[in-house]
Amino acid sequence: MSKKIKIFSPATVANVACGFDVMGFALNSPGDEVSMEKNASGKIILQDDTPYGLPLEPEKNATAVALQSMLDAIRSRQGFTVTFLKKIMPGSGVGSSAASSAAGVFGANELLGRPYTRKELVQFAMQGEKAASGSAHADNVAPALMGGFTLVRSYSPLDVIPVPSPEIYATVIHPQIEVRTSDSRKILRQEVPIKKAVEQWGNVAGLVAGLFTNDYDLIGRSLHDVIVEPVRALLIPEFYTIKQAALDAGALGCSISGSGPSIFALSRNEKIAQKVAQAMQDGFNKVGIENHVFVSQINKEGVRIVG
Ligand code: HSE
Repeated sequence: MSKKIKIFSPATVANVACGFDVMGFALNSPGDEVSMEKNASGKIILQDDTPYGLPLEPEKNATAVALQSMLDAIRSRQGFTVTFLKKIMPGSGVGSSAASSAAGVFGANELLGRPYTRKELVQFAMQGEKAASGSAHADNVAPALMGGFTLVRSYSPLDVIPVPSPEIYATVIHPQIEVRTSDSRKILRQEVPIKKAVEQWGNVAGLVAGLFTNDYDLIGRSLHDVIVEPVRALLIPEFYTIKQAALDAGALGCSISGSGPSIFALSRNEKIAQKVAQAMQDGFNKVGIENHVFVSQINKEGVRIVG
C-alpha cells in the first residue's frame, strides 16, 4: 500500500505593509490540512472534505496546477491523490491558495524522495497562485514553504531570501466579506510617483533591517504602505478605524493582509497582540461587521508533515 501523509500548511501574511509582492510571513494558525498519497492512475485526483466547494478539475485547482508544474519539471507521470481536509477560507487575505499550493508541492516532493529543496519548490507553488489569481506572486508561497519572514529580492531570476525575525506576534482580523485577489490587483495604479517610491523602498529596507537587528521600533516605523494600502483600503469597510484602534492599543504597525480583506498588526509581545485583537474586534463589532480574529507567533518552520 502506498504511504499516505498528512500535511499542515500555514496561512501567510503577504506584503507586510510596505513590501507589495516581495515581503511575507507565515503564521502558526490557521492553516490548511491536506492528505496526499501516490496513485497508479498517472493523474492528479482531488477530493474535498471542506465546506468550501473547491474546484476539483485539476486545471482549475491551484494545488493541482502547482503540483503538475513540478511533475512536468522532473518529467514524472506519477499520479497523486490529494484530499483537502481543512482549508483556510478562500478570499480571506491570508494566503488560502498559497497554503494549498505549498502543501501540494511539498507533499509530492516528500513522497518522491525530495528532489527539491523548500526554496526550489517556490517556483512551482507560484504556478498555483497564477491559476488562482492571474498573478504568479511568491510573497505567500515563499513563507508558506520556508517559514518565517521571506523577501522576494527578484522574480526574474527568482531569488527568495529568508529574513530572521525577533519574537513578534501577529494579530489578524478577518471581516466576513470576500475580496478576490484578482479584483484587488486590478484596481492598483500601474505607475508610482518617484516621491512615493522613495518612501516605500526606504520602508522596505527599514523593515528588513529591523527584522535582522531585532529593532522593534525600526520595524514599527517601517510598517507603512503609501502605494497599495490607500487604494485597497476602499475595499475594506472601516479600515482606517480598525487600523487606528490597533495602533492605539500598542501595535507596532497595522496594514492590509495580502490583498485583503483581512487586516494584520504586529506587536512586540502576546499581551499587546491580544489587546490589539480586542480593539480591532470592538471596531468591527460596533458597526455590525461579523469577524474572526486570531493571534499567532510567526511560524518559523513552514509547511510540515503532521501524520
Ligand atoms: N502580493 C499579493 C497582492 C498577495 O497583494 O496582491 C496576495 O495575497
